[in-house]
Amino acid sequence: MVETDEFIEDAIEEIRETVGDANAVIALSGGVDSSVAATLAYEAVGDRLTPVYVDTGLMRKGETEGVRETFSFMDSLRIVEADDRFFDRLAGVTDPEAKRHVIGEGFIDEFETVAHEVDADYLVQGTIYPDRIESEGNIKSHHNVGGLPDVVDFEGIVEPVRDLYKDEVREVARALDLEAVIAERMPFPGPGLAVRIIGEVTPEKAGVAREATHVVEEELAEYDPWQAFAAVIGKGTGVKGDNRVHGWIVAVRSVESRDGMTARAQEIDWSTLQRIQSRITGENEDVARVVYDVTHKPPATIEYE
Ligand code: XMP
Repeated sequence: MVETDEFIEDAIEEIRETVGDANAVIALSGGVDSSVAATLAYEAVGDRLTPVYVDTGLMRKGETEGVRETFSFMDSLRIVEADDRFFDRLAGVTDPEAKRHVIGEGFIDEFETVAHEVDADYLVQGTIYPDRIESEGNIKSHHNVGGLPDVVDFEGIVEPVRDLYKDEVREVARALDLEAVIAERMPFPGPGLAVRIIGEVTPEKAGVAREATHVVEEELAEYDPWQAFAAVIGKGTGVKGDNRVHGWIVAVRSVESRDGMTARAQEIDWSTLQRIQSRITGENEDVARVVYDVTHKPPATIEYE
């Protein structure tokens, strides 16, 4: 692990040199990339770094609590409870790109408020190599914090993991003793559960996607997927008890991938799929149907929107 140790030392040194005596901020999502970037930067400049975690209401189950706990050693950590504001902004928005835009803007507003408050000169970002390639190729317009440099007048941006692939970031996370749950956690998109909900994003749909995703993550852990999750893709008819209901259709997706650019749908045992189905429909009476997505990327994307 000499290489990883060297990487860590160099990254800390680079951040220290760049930020100097100034203040810095980082958007901490709870994912492995921003967690590693934040830990390196905190190691470099201590409480002059303010890590900002925005709870958009579109996070995975237990994510906010997990972040609070894992990063409790950072006195400067800010947790912004913004779920109501995000759901208000998202009301009536159905176009996938518009949704991403609304979330991106909301995120920037929340982040900007803190950046101004703490007088931050530098922005630390957890951008990794595939993010840069995909943004250059314009495959998705999604980097949540991509607009930040335009609205906050930062003196500079530091991207300590910019040349790493995901598996390399995980290696660094393990070397930094970041809890296994973060180091090994599946990637989660910036717009969160919103890209796993077709149509308008509501607290109810977010709740269904969150609980169902939790079931899928638990049940499929042994398959070691790159990502496994549940999406709310529409409504359909079902029978619950003696009644016909118009309930949610939940799609289960589990893929293997190295970097998210291409992916293969995983072959899952029928009995496991049935257990997932029975847990999801059993735990939520408003879910009428569970389907499994067998599509690779390409032609499908990993997420639904
Ligand atoms: P797609 O769905 O484009 O996803 O095949 C490829 C990888 O990128 C993640 N992803 C996103 N990450 N903001 C992000 O930060 C986004 O808008 C976004 N959309 C997709 C996705 O989870 C997968 O790992």
